[in-house]
Amino acid sequence: MAACRLPPSRARIQYRPVNEGKPLIIAIDGPSGVGKGTVARAVARELGYRHVDTGAMYRAVGWLALHEGVPFEDEAAVTALADRARFDLEGDRVVIDGHDVTQAIRTPEIDRAATMVARLSRVRERLVARQRELGAGGGVVMEGRDIGTVVFPDADLKIFLDASPEERARRRASDPAHGGGAASLAAVARQLEARDTSDRTRAASPLVRAHDAALVDTTGVPIEEVLRRVRALVDQRRLRSL
Ligand code: DC
Repeated sequence: MAACRLPPSRARIQYRPVNEGKPLIIAIDGPSGVGKGTVARAVARELGYRHVDTGAMYRAVGWLALHEGVPFEDEAAVTALADRARFDLEGDRVVIDGHDVTQAIRTPEIDRAATMVARLSRVRERLVARQRELGAGGGVVMEGRDIGTVVFPDADLKIFLDASPEERARRRASDPAHGGGAASLAAVARQLEARDTSDRTRAASPLVRAHDAALVDTTGVPIEEVLRRVRALVDQRRLRSL
């Protein structure tokens, strides 16, 4: 057996179970409709880590602003909301100030509201501080737009998921969590492009790939294969942390 000929130290590393080692911070960034949620949730479940969907926090603040009649142009007032809001993010549930908004934040209206809220730098500061608290101890898979660049620039592993705009629009249009099928593909594609442009060109933490993030292009790649590639990156990183 080849493994028996390895020096003992290497043999020990090779056969140590991959589920040991320090709990990592895994950052998954990318544009809308790229499948971040599916990938982040699966990886978190497999590792027994916490999954944090930071987009849901921007969405929840957008929902609360609408609910309380706070105009998005009033940055001070939206910041005050983000400051005082209590978030409960257990599993896939999103609760803000006691309102369970898990479903309510997945509408085209809240898509737009979240994108407007995400442009406000002072709101971002508040939410980034909360996201850092949530991930501080490690053992977290955090998804968003600025996790590897701003929230955790020293994350143990950074993955940037991308896909062509056409493919992302197709996925979003058929996603039941986003009311799939209700809007035409062309309408979804137009909305996605508008949000993409806002996310990529805004002054505050625009969507960019961190220089040290692994790029996974998922265009034309089935989800099982995307997960296989991401798992390989995670396993490589975990072996290094043993
Ligand atoms: O991922 P999502 O579609 O739920 O995100 C909603 C909006 O929030 C979208 O415009 C991108 C923005 N966002 C952000 O700017 N930074 C994050 N970390 C997460 C989301």
